[in-house]
Amino acid sequence: MAQINTLSIRKHKVAQGSDPLVAVTAYDYTFAKLVDGLVDIVLVGDSLGMVVQGHPNTLSVKLEEMIYHSRCVAKGLKSAHLVVDMPFMSYQINIESALKNAGRLLSEGEAHAVKVEGGVTVSRTITRMVEVGIPVMGHVGLTPQSVHALGGYRVQGKTASARESIIQDAIALEDAGVYAIVLEGIPIELSQAITDRVKVPTIGIGAGPHCDGQILVLQDFLGLNIDFQPKFVKKFAELAEETRSAVNAYASEVRKKSFPEKEHSFHVNS
Ligand code: KIV
Repeated sequence: MAQINTLSIRKHKVAQGSDPLVAVTAYDYTFAKLVDGLVDIVLVGDSLGMVVQGHPNTLSVKLEEMIYHSRCVAKGLKSAHLVVDMPFMSYQINIESALKNAGRLLSEGEAHAVKVEGGVTVSRTITRMVEVGIPVMGHVGLTPQSVHALGGYRVQGKTASARESIIQDAIALEDAGVYAIVLEGIPIELSQAITDRVKVPTIGIGAGPHCDGQILVLQDFLGLNIDFQPKFVKKFAELAEETRSAVNAYASEVRKKSFPEKEHSFHVNS
């Protein structure tokens, strides 16, 4: 499979006859290798703050941690496009530090692109990143790094003025040069309006079926994340149960001394 890149992703507008883009998160080499070849885009999301680190939100994730996870994922990918989240406060302070941090995610993290949250307010920073050759994916609607400002993880765009401001955010991102936009936690009418309006593909999570692609957190749809079962996630497997039953079987065989057997052991002369 050829390497998927920002140019091929840009062409994925479903209304123009393309297949929807398929994107998932991954945070390590093992899962990256498993999903490569099956999906178009792998995102090292700052959701790793919750899924891997056990924090209540994404705010404490550090740039060094994103670089580390991105590098681990990069080693497992041959064809998927690798995008990494810029963590909270790594791009909001000023353009200079945003460029430096995005550059580190590409050079040390081996990512192909960065993702930033926000629209109009981050558009000047995105323009500069794009000008220096750093591909940027946008993210509007429910932007988890603003969880405190939004008053929690709530669906956005419930009023006409909120919808208009999210549309303006998406247009600002397109004008700034993003190659795709994540739409998170918005009504399907709004995601359809944005998808129709912008020329770059939209990738939805909790944004309904009319986007140009979909993204989910891998652990959520594999049924590994037992504490988090929101409406927008469909469980395609029940791996938490499978994992617990395998660990139970292993523990019971160790305790009964029926594992390891001869076939799992080494001898001086074999
Ligand atoms: O951090 C993340 O995993 C994300 C996706 C869920 C869009 O931003």
